[in-house]
Amino acid sequence: MGFLTSTGSRIGQQIEALHGALREEHPGVARMAIALYDPETDLLRTFAQSTLGGSPLVFYDARLDDVTSLKDLAARGGVRVLDDLAQQIWSGSVHSQRLLEKGYLSSLTVPFYEAGALRGFLFYDAVERNYFGPAAVRRLEVYGNLATLLVLGSLATARVLRSAVRMAGHMGQIRDRETGAHISRVSRYAKAIATGLAWEFGLTDEWIEFLGLFTPLHDIGKIGIPDHILLKEGPLAPEELEVMRTHVAKGVELVDSLAREFGVEQLPQLVILRNIVHCHHERVDGGGYPRGLYGGQIPLEARIVTVADVYDGLLSARPYKPAWTEERVLDFMRDRAGTHFDAACVASLLSQWERIREIRECFEGKEPEDLTHEAYLPEL
Ligand SMILES: [Fe+2]
Ligand SMILES: [Fe+2]
Repeated sequence: MGFLTSTGSRIGQQIEALHGALREEHPGVARMAIALYDPETDLLRTFAQSTLGGSPLVFYDARLDDVTSLKDLAARGGVRVLDDLAQQIWSGSVHSQRLLEKGYLSSLTVPFYEAGALRGFLFYDAVERNYFGPAAVRRLEVYGNLATLLVLGSLATARVLRSAVRMAGHMGQIRDRETGAHISRVSRYAKAIATGLAWEFGLTDEWIEFLGLFTPLHDIGKIGIPDHILLKEGPLAPEELEVMRTHVAKGVELVDSLAREFGVEQLPQLVILRNIVHCHHERVDGGGYPRGLYGGQIPLEARIVTVADVYDGLLSARPYKPAWTEERVLDFMRDRAGTHFDAACVASLLSQWERIREIRECFEGKEPEDLTHEAYLPEL
């Protein structure tokens, strides 16, 4: 498996095909889009869509709490039909403005659920007023079910892989302590950083979702590190740091052997997971490990995770180090942009300061913190 960064969108293509099929019956449907909901951060985020004439909303997210109409719809179930968008929606929001600019005049919105919990929304938009009559709604609900099955199915496969890797970790000796607030936050930070880079790097919403799904596994190789090193209070001695660093190779072995065992070696998202595990300690100046890769040789997913991981690690107190102040962490990241860290990833983190802070607040006091060593900074 090479250093392919798989930014392509499989589900995007399937949704386009489905959109094409439903347009034979309902040619006025100019856009079909799916957004996923993350209950922990309350964020609703675009995931896949098919649009005639360019997408008005990609890499877009919003707090569900701020979108009252959707929140109400999710709570009561059923569908929402807007027959005249220009009259019925508040044009002050970015979301509404972009839809109106595209000339959409009516819309149908369908929430979808998994095991009773909200997972997201399906949106149809038409360039005519009053397009979504009762018969069209019934037909489009059927297409909608297909689309959500596709989306949930692809996420389920990725989740199986993630659970498999996690379970293998627990069957060995990894501690629950390692799976705490740290990795939940890092996963959300990684998605936020990727969102800021999406246009520049041609990422898809789908890729960003999988990045978030796999980020928590970056340190899975720590299962092979003995407790007296992993949980040592205080800095590691050079020879202990050497042992800590083997967590990368151990993680790659684990991912590869599980992928073989579960028969998911061909899973397109596997490369994202593998790259994260393999390359999250590389540095853009070539001073990282295990291979000392430079700049763009390091897959983007790993460059993103490195920034998210170190940022959160420095801000948190660990048994071997106190928490740094926000100011000190940010100075540190800025100082090392272009040497330790990818400069674009740091810039993206800094530019989304408010979102990052919101994420941090979501997990405050909720989950146990990570107590293990990180092995990224020998001087800490
Ligand atoms: Fe690591
Ligand atoms: Fe970490």
